[in-house]
Amino acid sequence: MANKYTIEPYHQGEGYVLYLGDVLEVLRAIPAESVDMAFADPPYLLSNGGVTCKSGKFAAVNKGDWDESNGFEQDYRWHRSWLKAVRRVLKPNGTLWVSGTSHNIYLIGHAMQSLEYKILNDIAWLKPNAPPNLSCRYFTHSHETLLWAARSRASKHTFNYELMKAENAGRQMRSYWSFTPPKAAEKLQGKHPTQKPVALLERIVLATTLPGDHILDPFAGSGTTGVAAVSQSRAFIGVDECPSYLDIASRRLDHVQCTLSIEN
Ligand SMILES: C[S@@+](CC[C@H](N)C(=O)[O-])C[C@H]1O[C@@H](n2cnc3c(N)ncnc32)[C@H](O)[C@@H]1O
Repeated sequence: MANKYTIEPYHQGEGYVLYLGDVLEVLRAIPAESVDMAFADPPYLLSNGGVTCKSGKFAAVNKGDWDESNGFEQDYRWHRSWLKAVRRVLKPNGTLWVSGTSHNIYLIGHAMQSLEYKILNDIAWLKPNAPPNLSCRYFTHSHETLLWAARSRASKHTFNYELMKAENAGRQMRSYWSFTPPKAAEKLQGKHPTQKPVALLERIVLATTLPGDHILDPFAGSGTTGVAAVSQSRAFIGVDECPSYLDIASRRLDHVQCTLSIEN
């Protein structure tokens, strides 16, 4: 049946397309079962007047309106809605990665299982130079959790085992990974408050997709997933509701594509 929803790209280039809008509305326009892998870095929903540590001093934790919580029940329903929308567009053998912290990852893990995703791994992404905890009342938050799940129990998911083993000096790749935050060179096209390191996304792309696969990021932000996808010859679809973030993503993707065409 033809899809009655359509949406115009915000920006596109060879092997990538970016859509501006709310994740639920944009995903309605993406064909069912068309995506091999999705990587989602959804809002942490923790910008509610708390504090964090920046350069050794207390600083407001607020990232923007998009990161405010609406309370447990509503947050859960919202996470479940976008997870369901992503599941519709995943191919039967497709997988989903979700990155989060203790603020949102348990809600998300529960919602994923209620939608019959099959959790394959939970990776601890260690941040070796995490800022100290100034309150001295908690352990220092120094990792994020990455859930990797198949669309269903019947999925035959892609895992490039030998490649990961080779990357880990001939030993099986384990479920704790250490990556530093994005380097200054990754922020030349503009800054996003929660930008992920390209090296982290490159590992995910190389481990769990094949060249030519279609990768979706429903909360694309500055386009880190796209940079990793396009530089590894995968096709990329990115969605974000904020035009200034998509402008950064557009510049980063154009830059990668331009560098690739010079190299080839
Ligand atoms: C945690 S950030 C993602 C950062 C990204 N991984 C990067 O490396 O730049 C979450 C993003 O989700 C976007 N967002 C929040 N709510 C959204 C919604 N309902 N629909 C689409 N995008 C949304 C925000 O604008 C923000 O850029």
